[in-house]
Amino acid sequence: MRHLIDILDFSVEELQELIDTANDIIAFPEKYSERCHGKKLATLFFEPSTRTRLSFEAAMYELGGQVLGFSEAQSSSAAKGESVADTAKVISCYADIIAMRHPKEGAPLVAAMNASIPVINAGDGGHNHPTQTLADLLTIYREKGGFEHLTVGFCGDLKFGRTVHSLIEALSRYEGIKVVLISPEELKLPSYIKKDVLREKNIPYLQTTDLEAVMPELDILYMTRVQRERFFNEEDYLRLKDSYILTPDKLQNAKPDLSILHPLPRVNEISVAIDQDPRACYFKQVLYGKYMRMALILKLLKEAGRL
Ligand code: CP
Repeated sequence: MRHLIDILDFSVEELQELIDTANDIIAFPEKYSERCHGKKLATLFFEPSTRTRLSFEAAMYELGGQVLGFSEAQSSSAAKGESVADTAKVISCYADIIAMRHPKEGAPLVAAMNASIPVINAGDGGHNHPTQTLADLLTIYREKGGFEHLTVGFCGDLKFGRTVHSLIEALSRYEGIKVVLISPEELKLPSYIKKDVLREKNIPYLQTTDLEAVMPELDILYMTRVQRERFFNEEDYLRLKDSYILTPDKLQNAKPDLSILHPLPRVNEISVAIDQDPRACYFKQVLYGKYMRMALILKLLKEAGRL
């Protein structure tokens, strides 16, 4: 049974296959409108979400399938103490595929080990968010035409930002990638990712606190929110939350073809004035997420013999 728990579960060729399918869906949506007729997606969200849950649901509806699920732990039997393993076994009796978000790192992996249907990690704690990476990859592909020889700046909460961790893993497999890590000292990228991904794959990287100093180098600027829900201490969050606020003046020295991405939700870290800048890609990124999730559902259902 194939699942998507970590973006490295898919080869570079498989990611390209998903991108090609998503591009085909964008060009010919009617071809896909009944592909999942009679199939059900279960969205098991133990943590809040707008984009991921609703884009999964929209994706399944646009494939002609149906959706069931819950959007908070309190409305499921998790509130009565049911384990993730038992939940996965139960939902396997009702649905064809599961998308799960959970505050605990590793929970979707536990679900995958116990389910008899494909499980998709829709975000696990501060760990990974592979389907956001699919959205990010399609955005970069459509903006830049590929992934090679790009300098990618990640800015904000690189410690708890699971979207950052997954995208760095994904990009590390392409030729000529350079990474610039821009964060306060307390929110630096975890050491295990620097060691196991960046150094292991000989990816040149720079760590800095100064966004404006590195701006002229960047092809992609990936802004992130400081993740309030992962802090143990509200005072630390309040001190760090506005470390970086992207305003039009900060883009003065940026490349004219810079692409600005953000997984959203945004709080304060990108001024709404940037939304009008043609380099702002974050709302396109939201839309592309739906198409990549459609491509992913098709792939996993096919591989499971359910299509
Ligand atoms: N990008 C993202 O995961 O957004 P949601 O938390 O709204 O799903």
